[in-house]
Order: sequence, then structure tokens, then C-alpha cells
Amino acid sequence: MPPRAFADKPIEAVQDYWNRRPCNIRHSPLEVGTREYYDEVETRKYFVEPHIPGFADFSRWAGKRVLEIGCGIGTDTITFARHGARVTAVDLSEESLKVARQRAAVFGLGDRIDFRQANAEELTRYVTPEPYDLIYSFGVIHHTPQVEKVVSQMRAYAHPGTTVKVMVYHRWSWKVFAILMREGKGRVWRLSEEVARHSEAQTGCPVTYVYSRREGRRLLEAAGFRVRKVEVGHVFPYSIPEYVRYEYRKVWYFRWMPHRLFRGFERQFGWHLCLTAEA
Ligand SMILES: C[S@@+](CC[C@H](N)C(=O)[O-])C[C@H]1O[C@@H](n2cnc3c(N)ncnc32)[C@H](O)[C@@H]1O
Repeated sequence: MPPRAFADKPIEAVQDYWNRRPCNIRHSPLEVGTREYYDEVETRKYFVEPHIPGFADFSRWAGKRVLEIGCGIGTDTITFARHGARVTAVDLSEESLKVARQRAAVFGLGDRIDFRQANAEELTRYVTPEPYDLIYSFGVIHHTPQVEKVVSQMRAYAHPGTTVKVMVYHRWSWKVFAILMREGKGRVWRLSEEVARHSEAQTGCPVTYVYSRREGRRLLEAAGFRVRKVEVGHVFPYSIPEYVRYEYRKVWYFRWMPHRLFRGFERQFGWHLCLTAEA
């Protein structure tokens, strides 16, 4: 896949897409804004993506400064703050930020989180460069046209001792294979567009890059970060018609796959490439 396939997409197209349907906004059928709604969103997110708490290592950042790039509606943001971190959280989408801000207020965590609307490709225009203990970005930078710009902006917030944790989508994954076969009808030459179009819950995402382990590592190394860990995980095993009704029934082939085999499969062909690096 050409590494810069979406470099010329306007950032406004990305912003409009995420404003139309903020990420995970339908993780609960309840009315957006209630405590119960947010509790359900959180439960569903960490049920479906159970590797997040291990990767984010939320309790480690108690009393520390966390910069979150692409907070969406704030599930991880709230969890960092709840564990005692002081968080600066940015996102391109005002609609997502509205929900995230209100969520922080509902849980009385507003004073621990500084939310900012920002394009992370030019983050230093919006957030004063100063050292953070953790720079965290989960499922975000592969959705921006100029990914390298975001990574080089991260340097302004890193000092010796800063940890960087970034999740980008994995090229050699079951999900990419499924999109290629199901939606792309095997047309490899259309893979970039098909992956973007079908990568999210809402069809038509304008920008989604995918990375091999080596490409992910190089992305961070090119900005001078030292990559310490590269982990692959997350295969979504549930049947979609049931999942959208908040029921969790696995598709038959994952239902019959022994648990240990499934875990091994996830480690090879998962959709999430989780990179941990140091400044
Ligand atoms: C898949 S969601 C992930 C949100 C959150 N990290 C989570 O795990 O729920 C991707 C988010 O990235 C944000 N995003 C995309 N490009 C961005 C950019 N250039 N600057 C800031 N945020 C961006 C979108 O607005 C969206 O909220």
C-alpha cells in the first residue's frame, strides 16, 4: 500500500467524518450524557478491546502528566484521570470533544483534564510545548493525512524519560484480509481505499493507513524515538448483526477456535499494532 496514499486528503474531510459520528458514540443505546451511558460505553469498550488497559497501563501514570492525541469521546482520557493522571487531551472533532468534556464534568474530573480542539499535525500551535511523562495515542494517527507530521510534533512534548504509546492499525491482519475479500472482492489494487472505507463502524472513513510491524517501528524511529516494544492484538470475533443489538455472539469459526489458538491468532494477525517507545 503506498505509504502516502491519503497525503492530499483535506483535513476538513477527516474532521467532518468524525464530527458526523464520534468514535464509539453508539457503544450504549442510552441517552448520550448520562452517567449510565458513559458507564456502558466504558464497559463495552474494554470488553471488546480488553488489551487496552494492559497497553495503557493506566495506574502507572498516577500523578504524572499525560498528553493524549485523539481522545475521541474520552474513554481512555477519563480512565487516566480517574487513576490520578493530569491529562491534556486533544482531538480534531469538536463533536467528540463536547461529549468528552461533558463526560469529565459528570464524573467530577474536569479539573484534571485540559481538553483542546486541535489538528495534531500542527499540535504546537494549540498546546504549549512542555515535557510530558506519557504521550498516548490510540487508534488515531493512521486517520490523519500526514502521519509523519504528528509524530514529529510529538517530539516537542518529549524529554528524557517520556514514554510514547501509540496504536496504529496492522497491515497483516485478519481485518485487512476480511475487507479485501468481502468488500474489495479480492481487488488488491483498491486495497487502500477499501480499507479506509470499511475500517470503522461508520462506512466511508476518508483516511486509514495500515502498518506492518517494521513500518510502525520506523514511523516512530524516524522522529528519533527508541521503540521498546511492538505488540499485535485484537481480532474482533463477534457477529455484527448481533453486536449492533448489544449482543455478543461469536462468528462460528471463532466460536469453535480454542481460546489459546485464538490468542495466538490475535498476536499474529490482530488489527492493533501497539508500539511503546522512549524519547
Ligand atoms: C478511532 S477514533 C479513536 C478515539 C479514541 N482514541 C478512542 O480510542 O476511542 C479516532 C480519533 O482521531 C481523531 N483524529 C483524527 N485525525 C486527527 C488529527 N489530525 N488531530 C487530532 N485528532 C485527530 C478523530 O477526530 C477521532 O476522534
